Amino acid sequence: MSTLITNIGELITNADVAGPARGAALVLDDGVVAWTGAAAGAPAADEVVDAAGRAVLPGFVDSHAHLVFAGERGAEFAARMAGQPYHAGGIAGTVAATRAAADEQLDANLRRLAAEMLAQGITTFECKSGYGLTVADEARSVALAGAVTPEVTYLGAHVVPPEYAGDIGGYVDLVRGPMLAACAPHARWVDVFCEAGAFGADEARAVLMAGQAAGLRPRIHANQLGYGPGVQVAVEVGAASADHCTYLSDADVEALAASSTVATLLPGVEFSTRQPYPDARRLVEAGVKVAIATDCNPGSCFTSSMPFCIALAVRDMHLTTSEAIWAATAGGARALRRDDVGHLGIGARADVIMLEAPSHAYLAYRPGVPQIAAVWRAGELAVDHLAGSA
Ligand code: NIG
Ligand code: FE
Repeated sequence: MSTLITNIGELITNADVAGPARGAALVLDDGVVAWTGAAAGAPAADEVVDAAGRAVLPGFVDSHAHLVFAGERGAEFAARMAGQPYHAGGIAGTVAATRAAADEQLDANLRRLAAEMLAQGITTFECKSGYGLTVADEARSVALAGAVTPEVTYLGAHVVPPEYAGDIGGYVDLVRGPMLAACAPHARWVDVFCEAGAFGADEARAVLMAGQAAGLRPRIHANQLGYGPGVQVAVEVGAASADHCTYLSDADVEALAASSTVATLLPGVEFSTRQPYPDARRLVEAGVKVAIATDCNPGSCFTSSMPFCIALAVRDMHLTTSEAIWAATAGGARALRRDDVGHLGIGARADVIMLEAPSHAYLAYRPGVPQIAAVWRAGELAVDHLAGSA
């Protein structure tokens, strides 16, 4: 089954050095991108979709999300808006609720959030454990996540759970020992929250290296709540991505620029915690590869909307609109070390967004307005608001 999308007002492929092409067309065939070019020269296909001048871009790649949890923390958000600071301690409340939840409840919540993401153009997403923090609860978290995405991250080192209070060494031994053994078969990535109040540099190294020895690839929560060693540890262990990067020294920026570690920015977190936004321009100008992700979680940022994050990244982190789109697509793919998604080059997975707008810039220009007209995932129409409108 092939689909020709024609009469595209603006086509962003991330594979075109000349930039977005107007009057373009795209052919999806057998789940992949088979052809792109000027609409006038498009080959025939089984079905034709008239984009009527709308913009088309790659599906969003969300490289950072925590979707396996129970409960909610709306009161904590309201307290922050009334002046309280965000602190990692709130995670314990979600851990208690998650441990108490039935598998079916966790699965239903996870699938509801995954459906929200798809409706907003996210066609690839990463999903972390980290609200179980026992061997059994982390193992079921990664198993549930693995049923909805291949990009599963083991985050046993999220915080030290209450039963290990005062014994961080004992908990790290659990995380890099029996918990890792139970989770590694279901995961692709290992992550650590490296932050004051969570885990220090030595603990982070120990967990990430044990994860690597078990076949997992490292990524890290770094420099979210203050300056610290997280980014340096990320670069040292060859992490695919250092996430948050809210507080970066010049040495951190230089280290990122000299590495293949992506800086994954999470603008929804700064919005939802009232922390200062990191300056993405500083990173781009230093040569750092930047991704944008939602960090959807019940504590620091409960949004599943990549369009919202793009608008914030443009308005408050000073990315251009096209840099923000790249960061939410190709940047996310790079943060997940994927070359089959995040672009619409020939042979890429046919993950495609059509906007109810003539240009990608509208995602920031019209913040908060639903503008996803259609989404194809691996060539299949998964979201369709086009019927009768073209
Ligand atoms: O990415 N920083 C650590 N983890 C999450 C927040 C988790 C929570 O508050 O429940 C984050 O912001
Ligand atoms: Fe996170």
